[in-house]
Amino acid sequence: MRKRAQSDSIDGILRDLGEDAPRPIAPEAWFLGGNAENADLLGALLTEALAGHVKNRQAYAPKDPDFLYDEDRNADFAKTSDEMLVSLKDLNDKLKGSIPLSSFRNQSHMYWDITLPGIAGYVAGMLHNQNQAAAEASPVTTAIEYFVGQQLCTMLGYDTDAVPKPWGHITAGGTIANVEAAWAARNLRFQAVALAHTIKTNVDFVDARNLTVKTCDGRRMAISRLSDWELINIAVDDMLDLPHRLESAAGIPEEAIAAALDTFSVQATGLLDFYSKALPKTAAPVVLVPATAHYSWARACGIMGVGLSQMIPIAVDHDGRMSTVALRAALSRFQTEKRPVLMVVAVMGTTTESAVDPLADILDIRDEYRETGLDFVVHADAAWGGYFASILRPATKGPFGATSPLAPMSNYVVRQFEALGEADTITVDPHKAGFIPYPAGALCYRSGIMPGLITVVADIVYHGGDAMTMGACALAGSSPGASSTAVYLSHQAIPPNQMGYGDLLGRCLFNAKRFYAALVTMAKDNDPFVLVPFKPLPAERAGKTSIEIAEQCALIDDQIVGLKNEVLKQKLHDDAALKELFDELGPDLTVFNYAFNFRTAEGINADLNLMNELNTSIFNACSIQKNEKYEVPPQQIFLTAHSFDPRMHGQDFCDHFTARAGATPIAGEKIDYLVSTMQNPWITNTSRGNFIPNLRDILRHIVQNEVATIVHRHGLTPMPKSKS
Ligand SMILES: Cc1ncc(COP(=O)(O)O)c(C=O)c1O
Repeated sequence: MRKRAQSDSIDGILRDLGEDAPRPIAPEAWFLGGNAENADLLGALLTEALAGHVKNRQAYAPKDPDFLYDEDRNADFAKTSDEMLVSLKDLNDKLKGSIPLSSFRNQSHMYWDITLPGIAGYVAGMLHNQNQAAAEASPVTTAIEYFVGQQLCTMLGYDTDAVPKPWGHITAGGTIANVEAAWAARNLRFQAVALAHTIKTNVDFVDARNLTVKTCDGRRMAISRLSDWELINIAVDDMLDLPHRLESAAGIPEEAIAAALDTFSVQATGLLDFYSKALPKTAAPVVLVPATAHYSWARACGIMGVGLSQMIPIAVDHDGRMSTVALRAALSRFQTEKRPVLMVVAVMGTTTESAVDPLADILDIRDEYRETGLDFVVHADAAWGGYFASILRPATKGPFGATSPLAPMSNYVVRQFEALGEADTITVDPHKAGFIPYPAGALCYRSGIMPGLITVVADIVYHGGDAMTMGACALAGSSPGASSTAVYLSHQAIPPNQMGYGDLLGRCLFNAKRFYAALVTMAKDNDPFVLVPFKPLPAERAGKTSIEIAEQCALIDDQIVGLKNEVLKQKLHDDAALKELFDELGPDLTVFNYAFNFRTAEGINADLNLMNELNTSIFNACSIQKNEKYEVPPQQIFLTAHSFDPRMHGQDFCDHFTARAGATPIAGEKIDYLVSTMQNPWITNTSRGNFIPNLRDILRHIVQNEVATIVHRHGLTPMPKSKS
């Protein structure tokens, strides 16, 4: 285990990067705008990024020669330059066929526009240093990466004044961060076994045989007397502290410990050899993820040699959140089977259901199981949801504060985000809800000792001393300094706290609730369709009668849907009950799932296959299925779609949703649904007021057409037209 990156050589730069005092902030300056309203500002920023770089380039050794221009080839130079411009113009013409990402009509995936400072920071960083594999070749961007890593740790609730200090770094994305977190968790879980094995077999470690260590259930015993199971389950922080204790309490030199782990550890020998030498009787380790987990976890388990079949999906409840009942059942089973649990993953906002797993409960469950001798790493996969923590983060250091009245988070979600600081590792992607250009993911460690478990240094990028490259404790080799400078500049303009990102994402949450309210009240009694939100109305969640649910729907229509933002905000300020209802409305974060079903003369359609056909055809009408021209697609609105799958979500989950939609469940059948992601802070506050009613009208029109088509195609009798 090596010390991870923290270097004297960047300290001077770090001091200079310190945060500014709070200042007035105009969110209108953060993005280019759907109609490129801020084109001049972006132009000025890009011009400055280039001019600053040109100045810096010219300042170093100005008397050195230029590269050679062949006078005879001036004409070729002019031609080559022209061709570059023509190719660029041609590329722009081709890119015109892209989905209009920043439009109010784009409600599809979890990305919208990128911040202006993010773009400018990226360009400036890219021009100055496109690769920071080695700290000595990228002294400034390495320091900036360290700095933004600390900012992210603070935003997420880690205490950057703690000892050991937390540590975060930029990755190429959430997948890489998740794989790295799994890698670190695997190495951590077997560290005590490796050290105990060394103590037993290496005479240089004889003095450590009686070293007392704490088991996770609180007993203190000599390390050489602990069983394999007890060693595997030493609690995370004690496990991390073990090499240090060998040094401080048993007098084993640091280099000898590092050399021993370099020779015998799961990292050194690989899982197969490690198990055959040190754990011949122990069952294969498992990784526990919610059934809705991102596929990066399958990749992590495959790469780590843990195996996909050891990735255990834990069932989700009807909200799409990990079921704590199912988690407890799995943990008890693995404890009985004496299978090491490497980690439990809580997803803080799935990008499909927007579901936030019950992290606070998972941490409590870990405390419970620790008392019975089972420990595991808790990882929060907040790749998408992590930046929402800024809604709780005050501008000054210290604990999380209350949400602002205009950032309507449900009590449940607040509780889970408040627990983030206790997770051992957190994935957070600036390139998702941080609105920063790709690639910019990040992994944050609660203890800065933990990344030492995965440190691999190459002599070409690390020349000894303290100035270890950030990439030594990372999965990637080379990485763009531009990702760090993009995050840095974006955070300068939009601080990762309630002043900046908290405000930005609070607006998105506010708009997501308004969008939910508009859609759940969209279908009237005389409409030939119904809309079933995956997240039921609070009254339905509370098990109220259908009359009470209809009353709540009417109240939402009356008190929320048609109101101007200012009027609604005033009402939310004055009316505590309405505020409570508004906070609890809709999905955990800003991804809204819903399915349509249709009505005929006989009543609501009961055939799940026909319901799926309807939602697929609506999706086709609201997405690009085929685009052979470089033209902006003619769609009026962009949505995406997904399916609830009995193999992933469970049959009970799927049956429950199907029944809510009025159809008859079919065993094993998927249920198609639509997805609207609200990552647009302005949609209810445009120069022409709230844009959501326009989207609702567009969607209504599409749904009516698709219903008519299906009814006709299948020879059904349409619902009689209402006289009103
Ligand atoms: C919860 C979660 N984790 C991880 C990832 C992977 O992130 P990336 O695409 O940046 O690799 C995603 C991507 O959507 C995600 O939603």
